[in-house]
Amino acid sequence: MTPSTRFTIRVALIVALGGFLMGFDASVISGVVGFIETEFELSNIELGWAVASLTLTATLAMMVAGPLSDRFGRRPVLKAAAALFAISAFASAIAPDYITLVAARMLGGFGVGAALIIAPMYIAEIAPADIRGRMVSFNQLNIVIGISAAYFSNFLILSLGQSDLAWAQSLHLGEWNWRWMLGVEALPAIFYFFALFSVPESPRWLIMHDRDSEALGIMEKVVGRIRAATDLRDVRASLDAEAHLDKGTIRDLFQPAMKLVLMIGISVAILQQITGINSVFFYAPMIFEQSGIGTDAAFMQAVLVGLVNLVFTVFAIMFIDRLGRRPLMGFGLAGIAVCMLLLSYGFGSATYTESGELINMNSTLILIGILGFVASFAISLGPVMWVLFSELFPNRIRGIAISFVGLINSAVSFLVQLVFPWELENFGNSMTFLIYGIFAIIGFVFVMRVLPETKGRTLEELEAELVR
Ligand code: BGC
Repeated sequence: MTPSTRFTIRVALIVALGGFLMGFDASVISGVVGFIETEFELSNIELGWAVASLTLTATLAMMVAGPLSDRFGRRPVLKAAAALFAISAFASAIAPDYITLVAARMLGGFGVGAALIIAPMYIAEIAPADIRGRMVSFNQLNIVIGISAAYFSNFLILSLGQSDLAWAQSLHLGEWNWRWMLGVEALPAIFYFFALFSVPESPRWLIMHDRDSEALGIMEKVVGRIRAATDLRDVRASLDAEAHLDKGTIRDLFQPAMKLVLMIGISVAILQQITGINSVFFYAPMIFEQSGIGTDAAFMQAVLVGLVNLVFTVFAIMFIDRLGRRPLMGFGLAGIAVCMLLLSYGFGSATYTESGELINMNSTLILIGILGFVASFAISLGPVMWVLFSELFPNRIRGIAISFVGLINSAVSFLVQLVFPWELENFGNSMTFLIYGIFAIIGFVFVMRVLPETKGRTLEELEAELVR
């Protein structure tokens, strides 16, 4: 490995910790809900709020994080996100009542939204074209690791709290279990904040602010002296070509020249969520229980879901710059469609008594369907969406554009999670999964017909081809 590759990987790994915090923060609540429900005597709606409020502020944060990062730089916004994560973790842990807890979670939501879009964008702006896909996918990998780490940390705190270890008792791990679950995140958040001091500002952002010589110094570390000079010239040319235009605004996004990239961005943002990933993530134990296997086995299988997600995200990282974005998306969407049809068939062919008791269901088929779905998502829509977001849009409006498509992604995610229990109740499992399958088939056709291959080209080459 050359020193420059090592430098890029180090920077990408540090910045991608934002993904870890985001994944951790979003899923840690799953272990907390049971305890706060009794302690604060919450109604269903209040409980729902304790969970969903974070997604709400995350969505809001997406609107402002992009423009703020265009103005002040990518790094300051990431530092602010790290600080928000730390403060939110601490405040949630000591919250004396329900309202304070929700407020503290909402504060963390701002960090989630900002980290979610700024980290991949920063990495794309600093990485050399030939490994950009892999580097940006680190972020998705970290999201996935963060989700699993939170499950594990919750489980660990719960077990230690029930043990009679003296140190665990002196920390009140049993009595304050949910407070510890929420509070531990302050540690990685503080680490992230300080680690960010060791990464440079995005070179493309520096050039946008006429700080070319600083940018050149960083680019030399990433791609070497000779390539840095050409890359800098290309970025300059792309910016100068638009120098007569004002600072990028949301209206620029809707110019005719942007039609193709915007259409792709929006479609992929919707597709990533409308095929049901977060229904499966947040309701996995419930789905498995409905296949008739019992609660403990259901929790075990939910852990499997996390592992499969992790392993296949690693595969995606290995192949995204070699095979390209298109083949992964085509393969993954086809896989999602097949698995959804399988699930629909599995639930549809179950037999029940007249009073609705389950008589017989092929629970192995259900398990295969769910794991196959998660694997297909993890090699395609999961990481590839973030890679595409970070490379489709021109330098001048990248921040605003990512905010916009990220917002759509987040809002669709919120809606899909919200209606899932209702769909199960009113349409039944079989129909619900069939609907996800149909969306996947539509997505497959769309990808095959419209999605351009973006691997291996500089952001400026892509801009020249896709935008003008
Ligand atoms: C999605 C999240 C999802 C996660 C699962 C991310 O790319 O945006 O909504 O929960 O992947 O791995």
